[in-house]
Amino acid sequence: MHPAQLPPRRALPWRLNEPHSTMPIHWFPGHMHATKKALVKRLPDIDVVIELLDARLPGSSANPLLAELVDLAGGKPALKVLNKQDLADPERTALWLAHYQAQPGTQALALDASDAAPARKLVAACRALVPLRGGMVKPVRVLICGIPNVGKSTLMNTLNGQRVAKTGDEPGITKTQQKIALAPDFYLVDTPGLLWPRIVVAESGYHLAASGGIGRNAYDEEEVALALLARVREAYGERLRARYKLDDFSAATDEGLLADIARKRGGLRAGGQVNLQKAAEIAINDFRSGAWGRISLETPQEFMQWLACGEALESERQAKALARPLRRGKTITPMGGAGDMDEGAPPV
Ligand code: G4P
Repeated sequence: MHPAQLPPRRALPWRLNEPHSTMPIHWFPGHMHATKKALVKRLPDIDVVIELLDARLPGSSANPLLAELVDLAGGKPALKVLNKQDLADPERTALWLAHYQAQPGTQALALDASDAAPARKLVAACRALVPLRGGMVKPVRVLICGIPNVGKSTLMNTLNGQRVAKTGDEPGITKTQQKIALAPDFYLVDTPGLLWPRIVVAESGYHLAASGGIGRNAYDEEEVALALLARVREAYGERLRARYKLDDFSAATDEGLLADIARKRGGLRAGGQVNLQKAAEIAINDFRSGAWGRISLETPQEFMQWLACGEALESERQAKALARPLRRGKTITPMGGAGDMDEGAPPV
């Protein structure tokens, strides 16, 4: 679908949706070739793929490269785990769960670190996806994936405490990969972090940065805070008003709102000039810590619309890149990054 066919969206203040604008977030997926190869090798022997998502941004925290690799392996039953649900809006989490449950071969559940027994839920959901597997001859083999900061280590530590058996070294599983038995006939294999070469959904870059999924040095906090406030004020404006004891800000721009937060939170420089950087840090930290209450930055419907728009722009970008004579030694990858992923993908 071409972006022109999509319903109009709220004008964003940071030039994000202009097709050729530069998003001020630098995405460095690093050297992913070895990880990708290891995953491709592993997938044929996997029955279910668990993807840990951030319940505040399920669409943006899903890994498109993982989806592509799973498709290449012929598809696998999937369990979408909306993690950190304690920070997410329960109504929106319910919409996402329904969205995933409606997809063939997919189960979904919401989880957070306060759950003392996640193993039971994960095992039951995975078994439901592959009812013909189970027992010592055909154990259920499950792979768990998730982007950085989604809470995978925390979950794995809890699961480790609940494992039924110690699993020894096994060929094909590197030291960076853990394998734990959650039942005598149920194995969970952890994967090293795999990132994708390019963020095609502009909103996702901001949501990932705001939630802590992108390293601090890779984005401009003011830009991210403005994007965050633009999102949050739509559905949760009252929370912001209450948190910072603001007057009605419905007519204020996002910059004006950030400046108001600066004034209320001692973000003033000598001479009375507002310190937007300080206000940005406060806003981002408050969002991350849940000080604004339980907030989700996206609904399935919104995300699908952004995705259609991002993919249309990405197709245009790829078509233009293909029309240009290729530089020596460079190739166009299916994900749109110029060059092999080992060479480091271009920033967003
Ligand atoms: P990762 O392996 O996927 O990178 O994530 P990790 O488990 O290290 O968790 C990243 C941060 O998210 C940690 O906070 C962790 O405590 C927090 N976290 C994990 N699961 C949940 C959850 O269900 N709910 C909430 N609210 N937070 C969760 P941190 O501040 O980076 O570290 P720490 O100070 O807690 O150690």
